[in-house]
Amino acid sequence: MKSTDFIVARNDLQQCKIAETQLPDAAVLPDDALLIKIDRFAFTANNITYAVLGDQLKYWQLFPAPENFGSIPVWGFGEVIASRHPGIATGERLFGYFPMATHLVIEAADVSKRWLRDAAAHRQGVSPVYNAYARVSGDPAFAGRQGDYQALLRPLFMLSFLVDDFLSVNEFFGAHSVLLSSASSKTAFGLAHLLHTLRKDIRVIGLTSAANSDFVRSLGCYDDVVTYDRVTSLPSDQSVALVDMAGNSELRAKLHRHFGDRMKYSGLIGLTHRSSSPDEPELPGAKPTWFFAPDQIRKRAKEWGPGGVDARFGVAWSGFAPMLDRWLKVVEGRGPDGVKQVYLDTLNGRVPPDQGHILSLAK
Ligand SMILES: NC(=O)c1ccc[n+]([C@@H]2O[C@H](COP(=O)([O-])OP(=O)(O)OC[C@H]3O[C@@H](n4cnc5c(N)ncnc54)[C@H](OP(=O)(O)O)[C@@H]3O)[C@@H](O)[C@H]2O)c1
Repeated sequence: MKSTDFIVARNDLQQCKIAETQLPDAAVLPDDALLIKIDRFAFTANNITYAVLGDQLKYWQLFPAPENFGSIPVWGFGEVIASRHPGIATGERLFGYFPMATHLVIEAADVSKRWLRDAAAHRQGVSPVYNAYARVSGDPAFAGRQGDYQALLRPLFMLSFLVDDFLSVNEFFGAHSVLLSSASSKTAFGLAHLLHTLRKDIRVIGLTSAANSDFVRSLGCYDDVVTYDRVTSLPSDQSVALVDMAGNSELRAKLHRHFGDRMKYSGLIGLTHRSSSPDEPELPGAKPTWFFAPDQIRKRAKEWGPGGVDARFGVAWSGFAPMLDRWLKVVEGRGPDGVKQVYLDTLNGRVPPDQGHILSLAK
């Protein structure tokens, strides 16, 4: 049996192709190995960022590909179709990090009631969240449309949740408004939703492109929506915190220069615009710094104790998930051509923000 893999050229993301990998026979799988059929996975701009940072953050290392090519990690669901682990039965459904492929072999370890881990040597050296699989058979929160929302948004909303917590613990660094770039992105509107519902005295301002401004306005979780060409029309006498999903150096410089010392916090989160310059000049106001989610999780896990992060995240998710029926249309794509189309559309910024793509490489 072979796995069908969708791979991209590491130094030119516009180039992509299908490759086939021979899978081991179920009868000769090593001890504790699982052969997983990957059923469906989500694809958003976040996955493009994994590719952009593939070397720097070791994402390419997770799912090996032929030389000069990479397999982009995606969040999705798989079914165990052969198991050499005594605690895992065939037919089990897993949620986690997969390659864009039809199959994956993992080495199951640390198996508990809810989780297991891939102990494959090449997957170590990255944050443990990328090697953990949730055992979700029969869990209605991970089935059907709710499952699609989990694949599309759970990893993004974790970031939204952590940034909301970080800003509020730090009393918004004295700012009265939060500016979110790429306000139409799922990560941004998750954060806007939390700020809007939980932090009533903070103004939430979405910065977006003209084409996406109607969508951002329609969400109802931004107090104000400003297109990129009009950001200097914002009153510069108010203190602001910037949460930057776009990673656009020119936009960031314009905002820092406009607000000067009133730019109280400048957090780098994403790279949707893929136009960040390697040598950015010193800017007025707070120094731009990467927000590193694993650090914030570790800090809160220590302070909140076992299960504390999950319990609080669960409460936040249960307030957010019901909004998605209104905010998002799930669009399904199948087979190599369907996957290629969504990949190139996402890479080139052609996906309308109200769409959430769920893909499968199976024909
Ligand atoms: N640091 C972390 O741990 C972490 C965690 C989660 C997400 N993130 C990052 O947050 C960002 C948003 O991810 P997402 O999955 O939520 O995005 P998404 O929902 O797919 O966002 C799509 C939006 O991004 C902008 N965009 C996308 N591709 C573009 C292109 N080629 N050219 C110009 N604009 C483009 C557009 O917004 P506008 O028109 O509004 O600009 C578009 O509506 C990603 O960079 C992701 O990696 C980081």
